[in-house]
Amino acid sequence: MKNILVTGGTGYIGSHTVVELINLGYNVVIVDNLSNSKEIVLDRIETITNVRPKFYLGDIRDREILDKIFDENKIDCVINFAGLKAVGESVRIPLEYYENNIYGAVVLLEEMQKHKVYNFIFSSSATVYGDPTSVPVDETFPTGGTTNPYGTTKLFIERILMDLSKSDPNFNIAILRYFNPIGAHPSGLMGEDPNGIPNNLAPYITQVMVGKRECLNIFGDDYDTPDGTCIRDYIHVCDLAYGHVCAIKKLESKPGVVIYNLGTGKGSSVFDVLHAFEKAYGKPIPYKIAPRREGDVTANYTKVAKAMNEIGFIAKYNIDDMARDAWNWQKNNPNGYEKKND
Ligand code: NAD
Ligand code: UFG
Repeated sequence: MKNILVTGGTGYIGSHTVVELINLGYNVVIVDNLSNSKEIVLDRIETITNVRPKFYLGDIRDREILDKIFDENKIDCVINFAGLKAVGESVRIPLEYYENNIYGAVVLLEEMQKHKVYNFIFSSSATVYGDPTSVPVDETFPTGGTTNPYGTTKLFIERILMDLSKSDPNFNIAILRYFNPIGAHPSGLMGEDPNGIPNNLAPYITQVMVGKRECLNIFGDDYDTPDGTCIRDYIHVCDLAYGHVCAIKKLESKPGVVIYNLGTGKGSSVFDVLHAFEKAYGKPIPYKIAPRREGDVTANYTKVAKAMNEIGFIAKYNIDDMARDAWNWQKNNPNGYEKKND
């Protein structure tokens, strides 16, 4: 499999995956509606790889553009990153989330079937485990109990993919449940560029570091964990990108549906992450303890055995590396992709 269609390929995880794919010799075609990313990402990809991927400005809900893409390119495999992902926003505008994410995936799959493209990789999330009864979680843990519409879109799409696979054995599908991707490309040319106030921990911290935010609010220090803050499995976005290459290789063996958790297997608390960033920064980062955030689970991290044994996936970066690269990106691009320096 050499020709990969990456939907959402100018987004945070998509762009890093595109770089990884190009570096490993794949031909990449991107479709993105730029609802949460910028075209300048293509320049950055080109600077890093010396290759400018073919880009279609378009929406995965638009059958015409998908027909055009599949007609003009021989696609072997589709990686579907396109989707809306803000938990809080999904509570406010659930229908937009269901329409964009679920309907979008359905249209994309229908078009793939029509054009006889049967390899599909889906960006799912650890959120499908809800509040796990114990940690670490593995892929056999029950899914459900999602606490917001965003998470529910992931859960429903997973179910749709299982049903599709049963009905059409031509399909080979990898469902990848990401834990908490953070970090940035080591070049400092690509990274996470959230709109408005960041919802997630790492981009919030880096915005405090560049002086855009006053201090980090730590959402609760009274959880039942060693330091009282929640525990997550942070994974470097470049490791995560490589996980998609492992999945492509797996699909070549025509496995039907396969599911992998992608994380490091190591749980880190909010304070652990803060301290890793302080190490990169060389000085303390201001923070205060704030009330718990609704919907947060105490701890979620993964067992790595299945991904390691079946697809050879091993994360090589630790949280110090993630913090260093995220800081390097933010320092060089204080306003994200908006302006290079100011
Ligand atoms: P992102 O917002 O940076 O990237 C998503 C991209 O998809 C954006 O470039 C956006 O413009 C595009 N897009 C959205 N809807 C589209 C549509 N209908 N048609 C075409 N393009 C569309 O997000 P990300 O962090 O790179 O996440 C990528 C995927 O991984 C998402 O599906 C997300 O839900 C999933 N995921 C992300 C995380 C995380 O913490 N970042 C965790 C688990 C799963
Ligand atoms: N946190 C803070 N302050 C902040 C932001 C976050 O203390 O300003 C804490 C949270 O309370 C949590 C931890 O940092 O304990 C991580 O929070 P994130 O928002 O970075 O990540 P989540 O684990 O809450 O959510 C992420 C993705 C979701 C995905 C989920 C799956 O953002 O899309 O992982 O577990 F669904």
